[in-house]
Amino acid sequence: MNTAIEVKNNIWWVGANDRRTHRFENYWPLPKGVAYNAYVVKDEKIALIDTIEQGFLNDYLENVETLCNGASPEYLVINHMEPDHSGSIKAIMSRYPEITLVGNTKTFPILNNYYGSHCRTLEVKEGCEICLGSRSLTFYMAPMLHWPETMVTYIAADKLLFSGDIFGAFGTLDGGIFDDELDLDYLEEEISRYYSNIVGKYGVPAQNALKKLTALPIKTICATHGPIWRSHIADIVARYDKWSRYATEPGVVIAFSSMYGHTEKMADLIARYLRAAGIHHIRIYDTSETHPSYIINDIFRYKGVILGSPAYNGNIYPTMETLLNELAHMGIKNHYVAFFANKTWGGGALKHFKEFAETIKWEVVDEPCEAWGEPKECDADHCRRIADAMAAKLLQS
Ligand code: FEO
Repeated sequence: MNTAIEVKNNIWWVGANDRRTHRFENYWPLPKGVAYNAYVVKDEKIALIDTIEQGFLNDYLENVETLCNGASPEYLVINHMEPDHSGSIKAIMSRYPEITLVGNTKTFPILNNYYGSHCRTLEVKEGCEICLGSRSLTFYMAPMLHWPETMVTYIAADKLLFSGDIFGAFGTLDGGIFDDELDLDYLEEEISRYYSNIVGKYGVPAQNALKKLTALPIKTICATHGPIWRSHIADIVARYDKWSRYATEPGVVIAFSSMYGHTEKMADLIARYLRAAGIHHIRIYDTSETHPSYIINDIFRYKGVILGSPAYNGNIYPTMETLLNELAHMGIKNHYVAFFANKTWGGGALKHFKEFAETIKWEVVDEPCEAWGEPKECDADHCRRIADAMAAKLLQS
C-alpha cells in the first residue's frame, strides 16, 4: 500500500516508523522507536533523496514506484551513507540501473565498500546545482554530521532543506509527519537525546553547519529522523545552537555506582547538600540501572557533574567505567566536576577518576571524597564541602 505523504509542491515523504529496533546503532535505546525519513522530488526529472533502512525496503520501493508512475528516477542523492539511510541503495541500483547516484568525494569510497560500484555517479562539490526542471537541487557539505561524507540538499524554489541527520530526533512519527502535527512535548527528550547521543561529539562541525545553513531562507526542514520542521524552525535551530556551543543550565547530574548502598548513600548526601546550597535541578542516576544515553543527555543540559563509584576488584566499577569511557569519547566540554568513592580493601576508583579528569579537562571543584564502607561524619563533611564548592561555582557562573 502506498504510504507516501506530500510535504509540499510534489515533494514526498517516503519514510517508515521502526518500533521493532530496540537499539539505534545497536547501542542507544529506542523506547519510543525511530523514524527513517526518505523523500522523492517530482519534477520534469525525479530525484530520490536518501533511501531507507533495509528492513523497510519493500514499502519504500512500492512508494517510489507508485510516485514514479512508470518513469525512472533520474537521480538518487546520497546525503549520508550510514545504513539507516543507505540500506536500500543496492536495491535502487538494481531496480533502476540507469539512475545516477549523486554524492561527494567522500561518498563513493564508502558506497563501493558497502554496496559495490555503480556505473552512473555524479560527484558534487559545495554549491553545485542539479536542475530537475522547474527547480534545482543545491548541495552543501556538512562533514561529521554525522559522518565525514555528510552533505545536505537545498531547494531554493521551495525554501526547503533536506538536512540529513541534522535536526533529527528519535521517536516514531505518530499520527503525522510535521512538527505541528506531532506531540513535541512527548518527543522532547527524544529530540535532545538524538542530538546528545548521535551528533553531540561534533559541536564544532555543528556550529559551522548552522552558520552556513541558517544564512539560507528556509521554510521547511526535512531531516532523516523525526519531525519535518515547518512551524518550529527557529526553536529547533536555537536548540542546536545551544547544544553545539555546550551551553548549559545551573544544575547537577550525580551519577553513581554502588554494590551495597554505601556509595549511593554518599550520592544522596551530596544531593541534599546541593539543594541546601541553592541548587534546584539535581538528577541522580545509578549507572547499573540507567543507560549512558540518558545520563549523557542530562550532562549536555546541566553544567555540574558529580561522579561516584566503589572500588571493584581494585578497579573502578564496570558500569561507571563505561560511562567515563563514553564521556571521554564524546569530548563534551565546559563542565564542573567532582568525585566521590568508596572502598573496602585498598580502593581503586579514584585513580580512574583522576585519569578521566585529566582527559576530559573539566574544572575539578574540590578534592575527591573516599569513604571506607559506611559513610562517617567526616565523610559527610567532605560531601558537604564538595556540594558547597559545586553550588558556589554554578551560582556564580
Ligand atoms: Fe541517521 Fe547518521 O544516520
